[in-house]
Amino acid sequence: MYFESHAHYDDEAFDEDRESLIESFKKEGIDYIIQVAGDILSSKKSLELANKYDFIYCSLGVHPHEVEELDEVKFNDLKSLTKEKKVVAIGEIGLDYHYENSPKDLQKYWFKKQLEWAKEVDLPVIIHSREASQDTFDIMEESKITKGVIHCYSGSVEMAKEYIKRGFYIGVGGTSTFKNAKRIVEVVKEIPLSSILIETDSPYLAPTPFRGKRNDSTKLKYIVERIAQLKGILPEEVAKVTKENGLKLFEI
Ligand code: NI
Repeated sequence: MYFESHAHYDDEAFDEDRESLIESFKKEGIDYIIQVAGDILSSKKSLELANKYDFIYCSLGVHPHEVEELDEVKFNDLKSLTKEKKVVAIGEIGLDYHYENSPKDLQKYWFKKQLEWAKEVDLPVIIHSREASQDTFDIMEESKITKGVIHCYSGSVEMAKEYIKRGFYIGVGGTSTFKNAKRIVEVVKEIPLSSILIETDSPYLAPTPFRGKRNDSTKLKYIVERIAQLKGILPEEVAKVTKENGLKLFEI
């Protein structure tokens, strides 16, 4: 029923019940999960999870918060894992000027390097962009990358349309259910369902009425209901089309 395009089950928030939780997902209608990496260690853990469960696939990559851990040797080590069968994307990569946990120049440098990597291996990218919409867009444009998803999209309607024109998907998650959500609500209304992926970003960003609690993929149904409500269509249609979108993008 559901294609979860973004979750972090390697996170320590799941240390106590990871196995039982993941094993409960199939009967909850979670058909596929993209387990998204955020640094070198989590790339390895993501691959382990993907190898353990048939319905979990994974990405490899280093989040802008963590790029200070990278050097050329470590980067080449990470790249060598791309040949593994369950690796279906590079991410999450991008720019984060909100926290600016690492210097902007370094973020840009490793963002570009990781986009090149995705092109080399012909995999889609999972993009993290926070308060950096224009720089993210410009760097992607320059890289001529054409496959990927802008995760937890927070930009304007106009920019979403520019991304879609270039073949990208827009990731819609828990923020669309928040009471103060304005921009993402407009975006969901304005863009075609054929360009939307659903995501929880678990353990973060739990949708209303779970805001602030630990998130997990069973809460996708609240996001699906929200999209259905905004578009005036049935939740079943949202689940079906976003699943097709996910299978297509990640070539599963
Ligand atoms: Ni994430």
